[in-house]
Amino acid sequence: MKALHSGLPTHLNLRLCHSTQPSLKPQILVLLPRFPSLQTPTFHSTSLKLTASFSSGSASKASMAASAPSTEAETKPFSVLFVCLGNICRSPAAEGVFTDLVKKRGLESKFKIDSAGTINYHEGNQADPRMRAAAKRRGIEITSLSRPIKLPDFRDFDVILAMDKQNRADILEAFNRWKFREPLPEDAYKKVKLMCSYCKKHDETEVPDPYYGGPQGFEKVLDLLEDACESLLDSILAENKHTLDS
Ligand code: 4NP
Repeated sequence: MKALHSGLPTHLNLRLCHSTQPSLKPQILVLLPRFPSLQTPTFHSTSLKLTASFSSGSASKASMAASAPSTEAETKPFSVLFVCLGNICRSPAAEGVFTDLVKKRGLESKFKIDSAGTINYHEGNQADPRMRAAAKRRGIEITSLSRPIKLPDFRDFDVILAMDKQNRADILEAFNRWKFREPLPEDAYKKVKLMCSYCKKHDETEVPDPYYGGPQGFEKVLDLLEDACESLLDSILAENKHTLDS
């Protein structure tokens, strides 16, 4: 699904969102502010009930992090953030696949791995059961809870992987607005990469949104992610030999 944009002024620029129930026909339920984590309180809907919450402003669900570093440059974990639209299908799967790979190589202490969405509609929800089941069949556990991307992510993460080009555009748009609110590294936009740019065995340029499709869509997502994660990890290790080999 592509995010739908209105032609309203920026502060009223709203996004349409769909039901969390995959079995329901897509229907427009509620208008959500774009990147509403910037606005406090933020209003989001789960189970059709509107609730208010306050953004913590910190990446609260990083799945792995190293213990206290002795010298930061030497032992700071390399941090990777995967981002899609809802953070219930593709990016949590990418988080699971990459985490599994890092564990298999015994590199847990060297990495901080997380995922986020460009909307907060599913905030606090587990990943889609179809995505979790497909990953589980490949021996990969997806445990993360959905959260929206936040301003500090541009400071806290070394690389931000967008699942498709719309995700990348939305992430960059957020960066271009947020950098005027708080100081952010001027070149943080360079951290944003397309996930499929790391694929070696597949020609696809985007990880397609599987939400409204059949089971084969979830398998395709995992095929692409397994390919991309393998060479993403290799390239991080090659480019950060000095800090990650120690
Ligand atoms: P994701 O998939 O971006 O891979 O998590 C989607 C999840 C939810 C919706 C669309 C795509 N939605 O319309 O609610």
